[in-house]
Amino acid sequence: EPEDAEKANPFAEQEKWEAEQMRRQIKVGASEKGQQQEYDFLFDDAIDFIKSGIMGGEGDFETAEIAKEKEVKERAQKSKNEHERIQLERAALPVYPYREEFLKAVEEHQIVIIVAETGAGKTTQLPQYLHEAGYSKLGKIGCTQPRRVAAMSVSARVANEMGVKLGNEVGYSIRFEDCTSDKTIIKYMTDGMLLREFLSEPDLASYSVMMIDEAHERTLHTDILFGLVKDIARFRPDLKLLISSATMDAEKFSEYFDYAPIFKVPGRRYPVDILYTKAPEADYIDAAIVTVLHVHATQPAGDILVFLTGQEEIEACEELLKQRTRGLGTRIAEIIIAPIYANLPSDMQAKIFEPTPEGARKVVLATNIAETSLTIDGIKYVIDPGFVKQNSYNPRSGMESLIITPVSKASANQRAGRAGRTSPGKCFRLYTAWSFENELEDNTVPEIQRTNLGNVVLMLKSLGIHDLMNFDFMDPPPAETLLRALESLYALGSLNDKGELTKLGRRMAEFPLDPMLSKMLLASETYGVSDQIATICAMVSIGGSVFYRPKDKQVFADNAHKNFSRGNVGDHIALLNVFDQWAETNFSTQWCFENYVQVRSMKRARDIRDQLVGLMERVEIEMTGDSSNHDNIRKSIAAGYFYNTSKLQKDGSYKTVKNPQSVHLHPSSSLLQVLPRWVVYHELVLTSKEYMRCVSEIKPDWLVEIAPHYYSKKDILEDGKKLPKGKGKAGMD
Ligand code: CDP
Ligand code: MG
Repeated sequence: EPEDAEKANPFAEQEKWEAEQMRRQIKVGASEKGQQQEYDFLFDDAIDFIKSGIMGGEGDFETAEIAKEKEVKERAQKSKNEHERIQLERAALPVYPYREEFLKAVEEHQIVIIVAETGAGKTTQLPQYLHEAGYSKLGKIGCTQPRRVAAMSVSARVANEMGVKLGNEVGYSIRFEDCTSDKTIIKYMTDGMLLREFLSEPDLASYSVMMIDEAHERTLHTDILFGLVKDIARFRPDLKLLISSATMDAEKFSEYFDYAPIFKVPGRRYPVDILYTKAPEADYIDAAIVTVLHVHATQPAGDILVFLTGQEEIEACEELLKQRTRGLGTRIAEIIIAPIYANLPSDMQAKIFEPTPEGARKVVLATNIAETSLTIDGIKYVIDPGFVKQNSYNPRSGMESLIITPVSKASANQRAGRAGRTSPGKCFRLYTAWSFENELEDNTVPEIQRTNLGNVVLMLKSLGIHDLMNFDFMDPPPAETLLRALESLYALGSLNDKGELTKLGRRMAEFPLDPMLSKMLLASETYGVSDQIATICAMVSIGGSVFYRPKDKQVFADNAHKNFSRGNVGDHIALLNVFDQWAETNFSTQWCFENYVQVRSMKRARDIRDQLVGLMERVEIEMTGDSSNHDNIRKSIAAGYFYNTSKLQKDGSYKTVKNPQSVHLHPSSSLLQVLPRWVVYHELVLTSKEYMRCVSEIKPDWLVEIAPHYYSKKDILEDGKKLPKGKGKAGMD
């Protein structure tokens, strides 16, 4: 009988495996009042374990303020009138009681530092208060966000609260997407976009208020903005400046802005129990999934927020979670998985804010964006594997890559705090208490100190700021990094030997792109392939892959994808082929499905391309070209990317040409079977090794022709041999 049942149940195999997984020991320890306690327990015992109260009870903690907020919220929910409901909700936010004091502070001081916990209402409310107080009559109210998803999401919320259509009175502006109009009075934008606005409006004349939000994130662009807004505040006394932050760096901000007053909104937060694993986790994705299931099966209602490092991890996690819960059927309550990351299409972003239906549990899989930029109500459990994807830069070798690194203590504490916004919560740290104490840095290093500065140096030069060594940085970048940026801009031809902007440099600065990409675009004019390079530029700028590779159809997908790189044309031209073929079908969605290409990514590429073409017209680049002129296409790529050249080694790996370092073709590269002798790559990604992603073959003598400042004949000689003739084909001879 049981055997039959097993046969009849197609999920039997999976269920057995699942049960095994669940029986795996989950090791958690509770930390309370500084005491560390660690326990081993089995999944099945977890409920008893929790009942015993060792993991920390829900507590009776409730301040008068929280009780009031709850009451107002409940009233708001009952209210039938949409407008009334929204106003009640607004009035329940922690910043609301301080509205008048805040307006008074802004009236009396030009610069105000604002500190309030995440979710207090800084981003959505303060610009509205200022608008209601009449500042929008004097000029726009601007608010910067380090992340584009946040800019889109908060502007949508504010438009909704004000009962206007997004893009009219309230809008947002992010790279390649401007959702504002002449009517816009409250404008959310990425910090990078405001930086670009300085190019056309160096005194921000159209603004009456500028709020530099999420200042504690210390992104590169925000740090540069600090210097710029501080400077214009001196000759625009009518411009109000707000610097707002979720954490306690306030003194530092205040000091930098000539001791500007600090406006602090007291926090309202429920207690959060912090639990650590007893031993380090080898596989944090797996540990995160087990913990989600553990929480789901054993803990009272409340949504879960899991911090992951990027889109790929989030997608993998989503897939695994679905797999593991599928076999459980109705034995567990419904799980609603809601991913959120930078490249998630905007119509899917709303899912994270949808209220969870009774009896179900929402699991939000998020990148760092949910740490402070977005507040999702109803989160009661936070699962923190303790990692973040960060850029890292070595000025000596000029190598930059994205690396998954441990978070800082400050970051971990912010993450934990997300569990206590609407009720007492729990934070499961998938690392040990010891490693929190001893291994995590106190604070995250500001991005300006760990990134390539080519981009901002070009921008600052275009703004007429020449003496970069004496720019008023809150924390200066390493001198070496600045020098390296100047040197690379010189090699690209955007600066002359006196460090002044060249005509080429001026044109490059018109594009919201990395200098290497804008150089590639401008070079395409010389090689007569601007049409093709615009496409390639758009395709590499979408962020993420255009290729769709579902687990159960990998062979079909791989076969379809091979068609694009037939003739071993390299990854850039393969991307061009994808776009060209899609365009030939008149941008057919069906074609994308048939070829395992992501429709959304392609649409984004088309949008970006349209914008680039517009900008190219502005700097008078004629659109010409022929997709079969592979040499000229690759020469243009090399003209921008000659820095990223590497050369095949005997063992099949590659070595970068200047500042030799070992690198590898990315497993997704179409050149894996070809192993060309000389290649340029778009970027390096560090996972288990340094991988070159998006790679094209070049001829070494192009380097001397294209970048004589940077390469000499000697650099391209092959082990004392003469220059190779023709294409360096497979293998070594
Ligand atoms: O900027 P800060 O972290 O202080 O708070 P906020 O982003 O202004 O968010 C205030 C409140 O608005 C949050 O607690 C959420 O309840 C709500 N909110 C929302 O529901 N949907 C959004 N897209 C943004 C905010
Ligand atoms: Mg905010």
